[in-house]
Amino acid sequence: MARESNIHLKTPAELEIMREAGRINSLALAAVRELLKPGVTTADLNAAAEEVLRKHGAYSPFKNYGYPPYPASVCVSINEELVHGIPGKRKLQEGDIVSVDCGTVLDGYVGDSAFTAGVGEISPTARKLIEVTEQALYVGIAMMRAGNKTGDVSAAIQQFVEGNGFHVVREYTGHGVGRSMHEEPQVPNYGTPGTGVLLRAGMAIALEPMVLIGTHRTRVRPDRWTVVSADGSLTAHYEHSVAVTEGDPLILTVP
Ligand code: MF3
Ligand code: CO
Repeated sequence: MARESNIHLKTPAELEIMREAGRINSLALAAVRELLKPGVTTADLNAAAEEVLRKHGAYSPFKNYGYPPYPASVCVSINEELVHGIPGKRKLQEGDIVSVDCGTVLDGYVGDSAFTAGVGEISPTARKLIEVTEQALYVGIAMMRAGNKTGDVSAAIQQFVEGNGFHVVREYTGHGVGRSMHEEPQVPNYGTPGTGVLLRAGMAIALEPMVLIGTHRTRVRPDRWTVVSADGSLTAHYEHSVAVTEGDPLILTVP
């Protein structure tokens, strides 16, 4: 593992393991997506993801992360909940939009990915929010080329989201990913082109647009994890772990 400041450049062999971790992570998220129906509890979603990880000899880096220790393997965040919602007894309802974030550790390497989807029929506004957030992720990924800087990625995401009339979170960012879930560099969803860290082949970054309808402001609920929009407006979150290569960016967290 090469080292440049605190940024770990991954070898092709390491990226192969991360690709497999990412593949398993995508299977766990696909299993959760299948369950997004009214009446299903958020704990059911967590159990479905855990089952997939266990079958593949993997586990989630979310479990026991941070303080107070995060108590589950996935985050399930509904409507105004932006990220880090804790699974439990709450039942999904028709019209909810649900963000599911899952991590995988396989052979010591991490994959980290998230999506947002509706339960049954959702409002046109909710649909647009989800589409813009997903597209913002791919707009960011397209900028993840050797020679660009992290600020180019951040600015592209911000401009796309704000150009569509929505807001990007300030307090939570994308991040390097590898042996640890959170490595350097941080990659915010807002920024200035030409600034930040130079992207080099072998960097792996979890890019994660977190988008709010009303304002960019957030609060943390008394459970000390669940992040919600300050104004109660709808939110969405997409994430992929992506490697910078000599050519096109390599999305790790896909089947
Ligand atoms: N994917 C998220 C992140 O990148 C979720 C981790 S929060 C945790 O930070 F507590 F669940 F681990
Ligand atoms: Co992440």
